[in-house]
Amino acid sequence: MKNRSLVKLFIPLTLLLTSCAGPTPQKIVPAEFEAGQVSFHKVCAGCHGVDAMGTSKAPNLIHAKFSKDSYSNNKIVKTIMNGSQSGAMPSQKRKVTEEDIKQIIKYLRYSQKDIESSNT
Ligand code: HEC
Repeated sequence: MKNRSLVKLFIPLTLLLTSCAGPTPQKIVPAEFEAGQVSFHKVCAGCHGVDAMGTSKAPNLIHAKFSKDSYSNNKIVKTIMNGSQSGAMPSQKRKVTEEDIKQIIKYLRYSQKDIESSNT
């Protein structure tokens, strides 16, 4: 009896927690990139996908097109604050702090480098 009521409590709690957290990252990153990984999965991964690999809604950000040489940190900040130029991506400025943005960029740069080095 006792066990069953615990289970009843546990299921909705788990659903609530997982729905708030957004998609779960698959990639394991060094500790210094974890804060950015968490923020990315809370705010961006719903559109940009697990590990930023893209979905039908939004592009893969782990792509040479978005590497530091082709797409500056400053441009990422602007995209987050103002949305994309076409307007397809809405502004995310209410969902992130300046620190979150910094950490998200750090995490994205790490993931881009990591993929590059595993391809060579
Ligand atoms: C509501 C869905 C949505 C969310 C949330 C979202 N994006 Fe996007 N993002 C898009 C779409 C759609 C595009 C493609 C925009 C276009 O082609 O104009 C895009 C494009 C981009 C681009 C490339 C823009 C360009 O100039 O082509 C970057 C960089 C980016 N997103 C970063 C982020 C980051 C970082 C976050 C989280 C802080 C985020 N996005 C959250 C939908 C989203």
